Amino acid sequence: MSVPTYPDLAGKVAVVTGGSRGIGAVTCRFFAANGMKVMVSGRDKDAIQSVVDGIRGDGGTAVGAVADVTDAAAVAELREATERELGPADVLAAFAGFDLGQGALDEVTEDNWHAVLDGNLTSTFLTVQAFLPGMQERAGGSIITMASTAGRAPGRSSIPYATAKAAVLMFTKRVALDAGPHNVRINSIAPSAILTERQEQRIPAEVREQVAKQFPIARWGTPEDCANSALFLASNASGWVTGQTIDVAGGRIML
Ligand SMILES: NC(=O)c1ccc[n+]([C@@H]2O[C@H](COP(=O)([O-])OP(=O)(O)OC[C@H]3O[C@@H](n4cnc5c(N)ncnc54)[C@H](OP(=O)(O)O)[C@@H]3O)[C@@H](O)[C@H]2O)c1
Repeated sequence: MSVPTYPDLAGKVAVVTGGSRGIGAVTCRFFAANGMKVMVSGRDKDAIQSVVDGIRGDGGTAVGAVADVTDAAAVAELREATERELGPADVLAAFAGFDLGQGALDEVTEDNWHAVLDGNLTSTFLTVQAFLPGMQERAGGSIITMASTAGRAPGRSSIPYATAKAAVLMFTKRVALDAGPHNVRINSIAPSAILTERQEQRIPAEVREQVAKQFPIARWGTPEDCANSALFLASNASGWVTGQTIDVAGGRIML
């Protein structure tokens, strides 16, 4: 697939949490293909290295750093490593997240609740809080947070996950109010069913076919669909867009 080009992105520094696989890994590749210097972050060192190697193999610039984004100290180290190795961040894609899948309320343990809220919401707060002040001081930047269709309309995702992703959306809008006067934009992507490697392994082909039929655009989304929206939100092409949500959802969400 050819990667859309936004010339203003060339030479800028991007940090992608959740960059080691899935949507984040493809976003790293799309950023690098636009001439950005990319910090690939996640928890799995080998997976991070493989994304970094792929980008370098294509002639791009990337470095990697392990950081658990539920840990404020690790996120601070990620920012320091980015500044040391690439320079201050112009673009932050806070994409790390997961669902543990316990759906109904009586299945949700307190540990599960905390883990999913920490892994999707607190992690977003910690990451944005670490990178936003520098962007504000430099009077420029674009932040992209990762929500989900689960946070846009009630569906079959777990209750903690839906709650966390809905909160990510309001967090993003509220931060946008304060960041706007400093010329920093913050927007969200809210994907629906995105066929990552993990989803492909987890969901049998016949179930995937049934799921695809539920979308006005009757297919699964791809990590590339999300990365395309991330490019747009990172670039000056969306220069007067902040506090917004792009539903990368095949028409399933129309608000
Ligand atoms: N796929 C979908 O259908 C879909 C739909 C809506 C929203 N989303 C959201 O999109 C984002 C990416 O999802 P994906 O499908 O690409 O998932 P994925 O393939 O499972 O990748 C998840 C990424 O998040 C990282 N991560 C998770 N917890 C982390 C933590 N505490 N600290 C640092 N990194 C962490 C993982 O790093 P390691 O593997 O290195 O640990 C990995 O890079 C998530 O926020 C997810 O909720 C996905």
